[in-house]
Amino acid sequence: MTKVAIIGSGPCGLSILRAFQQAEEKGHIIPEIVCYEKQKDWGGLWNYSWRTGSDQYGDPVPNSMYRYLWSNGPKECLEFADYSFDEHFNQPIPSFPPREVLYDYILGRAKKANIKKYIKFNTTVTQAKYNGSQFEISTLNKIDNTLNTNNFDYLVVASGHFSVPYIPEYDGMKSFPGRILHGHDFRDAEEFRNKDVVVLGSSYSAEDISLQCYKYGAKSVTIGYRNNPMGFKWPDGMKEVYYLDRLEGNKAIFKDGHEQNADAIILCSGYLHHFPYLEDTLKLKTGNRLYPPKLYKGVVWQDNHKMMYLGMQDQFHTFNMFDCQAWFARDVIMDKIKMPSDEEIEKNISKWVSEEEILEDPIQMIDFQTEYTKDLHASSDYPKINFELIREHFKNWEHHKEEDIMTYRNNSFSSPVTGTIAPIHHTPWAEAMDDSMDTFMKSK
Ligand SMILES: Cc1cc2nc3c(=O)[nH]c(=O)nc-3n(C[C@H](O)[C@H](O)[C@H](O)COP(=O)(O)OP(=O)(O)OC[C@H]3O[C@@H](n4cnc5c(N)ncnc54)[C@H](O)[C@@H]3O)c2cc1C
Ligand SMILES: NC(=O)c1ccc[n+]([C@@H]2O[C@H](COP(=O)([O-])OP(=O)(O)OC[C@H]3O[C@@H](n4cnc5c(N)ncnc54)[C@H](OP(=O)(O)O)[C@@H]3O)[C@@H](O)[C@H]2O)c1
Repeated sequence: MTKVAIIGSGPCGLSILRAFQQAEEKGHIIPEIVCYEKQKDWGGLWNYSWRTGSDQYGDPVPNSMYRYLWSNGPKECLEFADYSFDEHFNQPIPSFPPREVLYDYILGRAKKANIKKYIKFNTTVTQAKYNGSQFEISTLNKIDNTLNTNNFDYLVVASGHFSVPYIPEYDGMKSFPGRILHGHDFRDAEEFRNKDVVVLGSSYSAEDISLQCYKYGAKSVTIGYRNNPMGFKWPDGMKEVYYLDRLEGNKAIFKDGHEQNADAIILCSGYLHHFPYLEDTLKLKTGNRLYPPKLYKGVVWQDNHKMMYLGMQDQFHTFNMFDCQAWFARDVIMDKIKMPSDEEIEKNISKWVSEEEILEDPIQMIDFQTEYTKDLHASSDYPKINFELIREHFKNWEHHKEEDIMTYRNNSFSSPVTGTIAPIHHTPWAEAMDDSMDTFMKSK
């Protein structure tokens, strides 16, 4: 029987496990599947950990989420087509839930599909090689320290790409008297109450970590962008300035001449696509972009069609895009989708990669990723979902952010699966200090 190895049980790993389980439910014979997960539980980044650095076994902690993290996009845009929010919660819920609520939703579908049985927890993939006909996957069981090697016909890499921080260095860091950390190690904004905080970066982590620090009482927040400012209307106490030049003592000196005393520097400088366990010929080498090269349909490794990557794109669309990728990968593995010729594959990849290169703004990027996801969706039996509505929601969401970065999370959207219109949350986001599921689910 065909054997498939999946690395990671975050949202992407769970998507492909669900895809196989759905095929089995429909009466198909599915391959033998093993999913390796280095943590003790499933859900990937959504499974919050207080830990930073390495875990009790010396393994790097992959988690990058922090306390008080709320969804930064409308939940309707990531809804599973086969498992609606209405089905999970039995009541309509607001559009921007905190992490714990989305975690519960992700696990709800996984539990219903009974897919935990495929996952080997506390098992790190340490090496993956292709021997010409099969993948040799070596693993370390972290509990009993045993090493194993098993052979598989297909390999699905779902190990995420927001776990290994990219950490630049600036002059003066060595002698800076305060704390320097990357967003990957940021856990609780309370730590920065009454502090002058400097945040470097201009993407989602910079935006949200700055807002968290402001919301939980930082004295000041100064954001240093490198290329383009985010340009939102920041509340008093927050500002955006051009590129850090150096630190002198506790003073941050920016290239536009701006100077700011700092108690802490938070590097929101992004993450590395880092696959230390993969041999070089199998390794995806890319920055965080909407169409990484060498992936047919954004999924199948161009140089070896028995290898798939899930979720390696920069992400507007998330869970339902991962599902479309997973359903596609499943059907390639089960031989329901035939791979075209090498020339066709090259042409297809080049088309998407070159189209991405000329995108100019977030609205064009939303269109690009929506088209990509729709294209994938058309090739499998992933259930119906209204991607045109999702496209429109993403564009409205961008406008809401431009109108007011402090209130965009108070808006309501409609479901692309059930049509349900989300209720307005009982507490505006800027005043909602408690992010627990209990408090979120209560109506006032
Ligand atoms: C701070 C932050 C906030 C975010 N907020 C949102 C949000 O609000 N909304 C949204 O839609 N998306 C958000 N995202 C995007 C996020 O990337 C996706 O939602 C999702 O978690 C990606 O799923 P994944 O399965 O690809 O990766 P991950 O969630 O990273 O899961 C990968 C899994 O692989 C395991 N693994 C890694 N290496 C190995 C190995 N060698 N052996 C075995 N197992 C391994 C890890 O332990 C992990 O469980 C956020 C990302 C970050 C960093
Ligand atoms: N739910 C939430 O609220 C939430 C919160 C945080 C993150 N997230 C998610 O997490 C994911 C990762 O986002 P991210 O912002 O961490 O990574 P990212 O989107 O890849 O952005 C990386 C940022 O680092 C900057 N950068 C790189 N090198 C730098 C340097 N030397 N100095 C200064 N800046 C530098 C880049 O600037 P340039 O543009 O100039 O290159 C860019 O702004 C996204 O999917 C996001 O949605 C969600």
